[in-house]
Amino acid sequence: MKTTSETGFIHDAPCGIFMTDREMKITFWNSDMEKLTGIESSKALKQKPSFINFYDITPGEKKMLDFRDCFKGKKTNIAKTAYLNNINGSQTLVFINARFIQSGKSDILMVIVTDISKEITCSTISAAPLLIREKEPLQRIVGRDEKILELYRMIEMAADSMANVSISGESGTGKELVANAIHQLSNRKNKPFVKVNCSALTETLLESELFGHVKGSFTGAYKDKIGKFESAGGGTVFLDEIGELSQMIQVKLLRVIQEKVIERVGDNKSIKVDMRIITATNKNLREQVAKGLFREDLFYRLNVFPIKTSPLRDRVNDIPLLVDYFIAKFNLQTGKHIKGLTEDAYRIIMDYCWPGNVRELENSIEHAFVVCNKKLIDVFDLPQDIRLVSLRQGLCKNIDSTLAPAYYVPNEVPAVNHLSFRIITKEQLNAVLMNNQFNRKETAKQLGISTVALWKKMKKFEIIE
Ligand SMILES: Nc1ncnc2c1ncn2[C@@H]1O[C@H](COP(=O)(O)OP(=O)(O)OP(=O)(O)O)[C@@H](O)[C@H]1O
Ligand SMILES: [Mg+2]
Repeated sequence: MKTTSETGFIHDAPCGIFMTDREMKITFWNSDMEKLTGIESSKALKQKPSFINFYDITPGEKKMLDFRDCFKGKKTNIAKTAYLNNINGSQTLVFINARFIQSGKSDILMVIVTDISKEITCSTISAAPLLIREKEPLQRIVGRDEKILELYRMIEMAADSMANVSISGESGTGKELVANAIHQLSNRKNKPFVKVNCSALTETLLESELFGHVKGSFTGAYKDKIGKFESAGGGTVFLDEIGELSQMIQVKLLRVIQEKVIERVGDNKSIKVDMRIITATNKNLREQVAKGLFREDLFYRLNVFPIKTSPLRDRVNDIPLLVDYFIAKFNLQTGKHIKGLTEDAYRIIMDYCWPGNVRELENSIEHAFVVCNKKLIDVFDLPQDIRLVSLRQGLCKNIDSTLAPAYYVPNEVPAVNHLSFRIITKEQLNAVLMNNQFNRKETAKQLGISTVALWKKMKKFEIIE
């Protein structure tokens, strides 16, 4: 293909453009492609597009675009969001549009690559593929951080095995999503996935919920009831908040795991059960064992394949992707057309420490959707407690932080002193920590205690491991 006169005007276009011939050899490579990839035109010409480092943004997806589909007539147009790696190691979020153009003998493929990494407002475009593919179990767990990629590997390994899995991690880090993904990827996927929240019921009700009962076995047992272990038949039982189990149920659970049989409450007949057990907790079970609150033998039975979910503050680079994902999700749910966040709101979201993890982020975006009636979510569309921390830290460029008290109730961060430290709650401690940007030295100073005492309290509340 001739360049200069025919394609000169697109050589300096403000987006990457390249073309290939029928043999899929690159015949044109403009200056923006050079910038995006770090590869000069002379090196790119005659190469195949597969040499370009495009990566799918969809988690778990290894294969990138196959432009050959265009020539095979399978597709005439490909539109996709992807990451493009530069040879200097940087990565750019791009939108790719590939088009097959047929013109007699010279069929060509024309590809336009647009840098969208700076467009916080492109949420719907970049998250759309995630939403479309949400049916895939791993892709519901959004993230590109190495910790999330490791989590995918653990989930895949767990799904391939029969071992009991125990998932631990802070509240809101996706433990239930993980349990669900393991089941969906396992060969039990066509059988039930039964969830039981062990902290939501009294001991008697939980016993009956898990094991079932026969009519008249206790007051209120008006008819026979099948328990969850039985109803899971061939599937998976997900025991959430396992750290809350009473000693009596712990003993019964141990027997189920060891012998794969249950007896319904009020009945002696043993019934064989076939299910896999996945448990989750946001408590430190080892500590519970040490305190004599959780049986050691049960702990080891359940903990055959432990998986840990990581707090959002340890993978802040995933926040933009998650924000995009939730904006796209709530746009679909509410019919709104919110495009993104203002610069200040974005800064707050990035700097906040998210003690409630992804759930808190999701709830904050949902809150903003209720309040926001513009195209961009602004600072005051965000929940008050998130604004509070950020305004006090003076994070917002365009908002005078001295105005902040007018917008929120003051003194939400508790006045805690040395004496009250003994009775401080987890929420209060988190608030003081947040107010000090999780700086332990500063927090300890404010509380009038040693950093060791603070560390112990944080460990006790499982704010840290
Ligand atoms: N990586 C993620 N990608 C997308 N959504 C996520 C992710 N992690 C968590 N969520 C969402 O956050 C919310 C909380 O997740 P989940 O219930 O799995 O957390 P959890 O660890 O079980 O919390 P808890 O200990 O409080 O029960 C859910 O709405 C879930 O869809
Ligand atoms: Mg949960």
